[in-house]
Amino acid sequence: MNEPASARPPVRVAVVGLGWAGRSIWLPRLTAHPDFTVTAVVDSDPAARAAAAEQAPGAAMLERPTELTPGMADLAVVAVPNHLHTDVGAELLTRGIPVFLEKPVCLSTAEAERLAAAERSGGSVLLAGSAARHRGDVRELCAVVAGLGRVRHIDVAWVRSRGIPRAGGWFTRRDLAGGGAMVDLGWHLLDTLVPLLGAASFVQITGTLSDDFLHDRRWAAAWREDQPADAGHRDVEDTARAFLVSDEGVSVALRASWASHQARDTTTITVEAAGGTATLRCTFGFSPNRQGGASLSVTRDGETTPVAVPDEEIGLEYVRQLDTLPAALADPLARGAAAAEAARTIAVIERFYESALEFRALAPTGR
Ligand SMILES: NC(=O)c1ccc[n+]([C@@H]2O[C@H](COP(=O)([O-])OP(=O)(O)OC[C@H]3O[C@@H](n4cnc5c(N)ncnc54)[C@H](O)[C@@H]3O)[C@@H](O)[C@H]2O)c1
Repeated sequence: MNEPASARPPVRVAVVGLGWAGRSIWLPRLTAHPDFTVTAVVDSDPAARAAAAEQAPGAAMLERPTELTPGMADLAVVAVPNHLHTDVGAELLTRGIPVFLEKPVCLSTAEAERLAAAERSGGSVLLAGSAARHRGDVRELCAVVAGLGRVRHIDVAWVRSRGIPRAGGWFTRRDLAGGGAMVDLGWHLLDTLVPLLGAASFVQITGTLSDDFLHDRRWAAAWREDQPADAGHRDVEDTARAFLVSDEGVSVALRASWASHQARDTTTITVEAAGGTATLRCTFGFSPNRQGGASLSVTRDGETTPVAVPDEEIGLEYVRQLDTLPAALADPLARGAAAAEAARTIAVIERFYESALEFRALAPTGR
């Protein structure tokens, strides 16, 4: 049995990548958490390092992830741009430093294999960002669905009103981000399918992409406080719509939108099962333009019944994820698990893009 986290010395943690996620999500929660002590902050940008040093006084300030040694940290939380996840993660893992890698963990099945190989060769462990399943409302939805019998179909959608991350920067370049809303928000949505469907294998995958908002700075994510780079390159989707069918005949309709004409940022998950339909409406992520409190209901035989969900502070799911990390670091069964799950998720995304990009090439506008 694992000892309680409080009986262990705090986990020495390095935060690698000190941009919005490193400084707004991870550093405040790590420095406030009794199970962690931040021993190093790593970023190639001196301004990002200086800002992080104020948040984590006493932590070593490093320019490159290769400067981090196993003697300095028991865990590296890696939040660099997407195209660097595998290079940085694999390099640290190979040198025996456990890694908690932000989503999207990797951008191809080949990258998932590289991470798994690095984990094995370094005798280390890869852990992965999967916050949404730690939300109280998502947990409640899963508990309700467990009592509804066989699941037939899931509609899952995260639709922002205005939420394009720094258009013209790395987020909107396919070569650096790996894709747009599908990679960014869709990864979280695919992650919420795991507690609902288990390790489902999807045998049919199709979908479409669009970019109707990407070229207009009014649709930027205001809460990031980063300005769109007007001249920067943009070749990803702001909206992805996918339809998946599992080998057990369960269908999933998934929509991920960085921007839309709706007023509020909304996440909706509807699970149709043999014994009833459960619907959760809430807002994932940190946007201040929220849908209001979460609501969950179950409809059976013409009658809709509300189900109570906890009213949680924004971002609590990230703290809950941190709560699990000390035990995961000590658990031999954690080895290989995150890489295997990431391989399944990226395989869905890869096949979605194959389908959607083929269709886009045929569209009259050429987009
Ligand atoms: N889980 C979530 O909800 C969530 C939310 C936001 C971002 N993210 C993820 O976090 C990652 C970072 O996103 P962001 O919004 O913070 O991006 P960002 O551009 O704001 O920050 C990236 C940082 O990485 C630094 N960097 C680049 N190359 C580096 C290298 N080789 N070594 C060290 N530092 C390097 C940059 O200087 C920058 O400070 C992305 O993968 C993103 O998908 C996750």
